[in-house]
Amino acid sequence: MLGDRLENVRPRLRVLAVGFAGHQGKEYLPIVRESADIVGGVDPAPAASSLADEWQFPHFDLLSEAFGKVEFDAALVTVPHSEHFPVCTRLLAHGVHVIKEKPFAVTEGEARQLIHLAQRADRSVFTLLQRNFNPVFQFAQANLARIGEPYWFSYDYHFNLAHPTTGWRASREQAMGGVLLDMGYHLIDVLSGMFPEPDPLRVHSAFVHQFQEMRDRRLEDLVSLMCSYPSTGLTGSLRISRHNHEKIEHLCVLGTEGALNVAPGVATLHSVGGLPLERYTWEGPKVDAVRSMLSHHLGHLDDRNYRRDHFQRQLVTVRTIDRIYRDRLRDQNALADRCA
Ligand SMILES: NC(=O)c1ccc[n+]([C@@H]2O[C@H](COP(=O)([O-])OP(=O)(O)OC[C@H]3O[C@@H](n4cnc5c(N)ncnc54)[C@H](O)[C@@H]3O)[C@@H](O)[C@H]2O)c1
Repeated sequence: MLGDRLENVRPRLRVLAVGFAGHQGKEYLPIVRESADIVGGVDPAPAASSLADEWQFPHFDLLSEAFGKVEFDAALVTVPHSEHFPVCTRLLAHGVHVIKEKPFAVTEGEARQLIHLAQRADRSVFTLLQRNFNPVFQFAQANLARIGEPYWFSYDYHFNLAHPTTGWRASREQAMGGVLLDMGYHLIDVLSGMFPEPDPLRVHSAFVHQFQEMRDRRLEDLVSLMCSYPSTGLTGSLRISRHNHEKIEHLCVLGTEGALNVAPGVATLHSVGGLPLERYTWEGPKVDAVRSMLSHHLGHLDDRNYRRDHFQRQLVTVRTIDRIYRDRLRDQNALADRCA
């Protein structure tokens, strides 16, 4: 239906899917096709060619092979973290919009460069963050003011994976960070939407490793952060991990006039003292949030105000994570100097 609405206002967009044979790429193919034409796919994976045949679009091993062979308005980018920046800058240089997986960028410098290139080309670079399109998180955002002045939050996000991390996420060069970058990007982005940027950032962090090989590669399996927002007096704690005993996501915000609890599928507003005031539930399916996210971004590619706001928010999210990693490295180096 949403696809029909988009069709009424303009011709269907032509999308190149970059990294389409991976986990996220495959998930998006049927949803993108509802509102746009997938005119080609780039992925060097051995399975990519037969997948492209199945979906009936031309397959390319390399991005450069697709340029000139197919015309497209936007690219959907779902590649390992180390490939995001080179792929996105080449797409912008080619003059097309980019809709991409998180992270928007890994470092503040790369985020600024990407924004500069996008603005110069008058093209969008939108990051796919499904919580912004999940009705429970939208309820939380819309009702935050009802708890008064927030003074504390606690945010937990854990997977319960039984085995050590494998594939590109286990490579320092490709992953460029552990759970803080991979899973924490979503959480820091949710907090960026709720609270002003913690500037100056005051964070105490503990980076924890369950597996020796991840320690050797400086890829944290668990991170615990205590953040303070000096401008508002807000303090909060985040814990993110891959190998917890249970899979869980839970955000709790305490305010001067109440509390807000958010978990997948349900958000509850409480009075001071804990009395439930309003409960909002959403039973999905998750694909509905993904569909609304993709069709929203596809529908706003030429919206410069939306683009500017998106860039500002992503710059804050990237900068926050980048500073936490840089502070951590600085502390480690200082410790090494003291021990030497
Ligand atoms: N939003 C979420 O909940 C969520 C979940 C999983 C992954 N992701 C993100 O999606 C992205 C991909 O993760 P994944 O789990 O799908 O990884 P994946 O390994 O399953 O897929 C990545 C694909 O990219 C291909 N690829 C690698 N380099 C390429 C290049 N230069 N050009 C074209 N294709 C290339 C690989 O062959 C592979 O098929 C990451 O940014 C990750 O953070 C997001």
